[in-house]
Amino acid sequence: MAWDAYAAGWDDQPGVKEYARAAFGALVALAENDGFELSGSRACDFGCGTGLLTEQLVGLCDRIDAVDSSPAMREVLRGKIAHHGWDSVGVFDRLPQLHDGYDLVVCSSVCAFVDDYPGLVQQLVASMGPGGLFVQWDWEFDPDDDEPFGLTRDAIRRALGAAGLVSVSVVTGFEVIAEGQTMRPLMGSGRRPCQTHADPGCGPPPLCLSLQPRAAGAIGEHR
Ligand SMILES: C[S@@+](CC[C@H](N)C(=O)[O-])C[C@H]1O[C@@H](n2cnc3c(N)ncnc32)[C@H](O)[C@@H]1O
Repeated sequence: MAWDAYAAGWDDQPGVKEYARAAFGALVALAENDGFELSGSRACDFGCGTGLLTEQLVGLCDRIDAVDSSPAMREVLRGKIAHHGWDSVGVFDRLPQLHDGYDLVVCSSVCAFVDDYPGLVQQLVASMGPGGLFVQWDWEFDPDDDEPFGLTRDAIRRALGAAGLVSVSVVTGFEVIAEGQTMRPLMGSGRRPCQTHADPGCGPPPLCLSLQPRAAGAIGEHR
């Protein structure tokens, strides 16, 4: 899909801002329920587009790596960063190579569009630290739709489990009605467990909630 063509008018599309706000609300509720500390976390907004979800995370997360393959989408986000002076946000054309892992990876309406969804989840989970929270929102695949598109609950559950996440959950993320259109996307989530369960402060297996001290920031190139 040629995303560049949508970049300039993306934020004016019906419902996209409401979708991002609702996704953020669902994320806050999930984090509270899961005992995950969003505040001060180091986050990756993968497939960030013009940064509608990034905007919600600014000020809460310590650092946000906003990743998108579309140069035009990245350019719109860069304009917002310059306008607002968001120095905690870095923009990348691909997942940066890290010395240490993300606490939070969010993918808002991205995973159903990539060629290798399970492979992408593997890659993203590998970029997370122990106890990290992975969350995605995607349209639910319905074979009865005129043009079926999206992911099934089962496909999400399998991909997150195969990537090694625990406490995997797939639910209806939220419901938003914008300009007569009802949006009810799926929200898939899971936590990256500790590898050894022997670290000090490690919770009972399979879920270790002790985040390791981080060494350094991203070494990926800003583009
Ligand atoms: C439907 S838009 C969602 C944008 C944003 N997350 C939002 O909710 O407004 C999908 C975005 O995913 C990006 N994208 C698609 N495939 C990608 C990939 N393999 N790597 C990085 N970004 C990708 C597109 O460029 C596009 O900006």
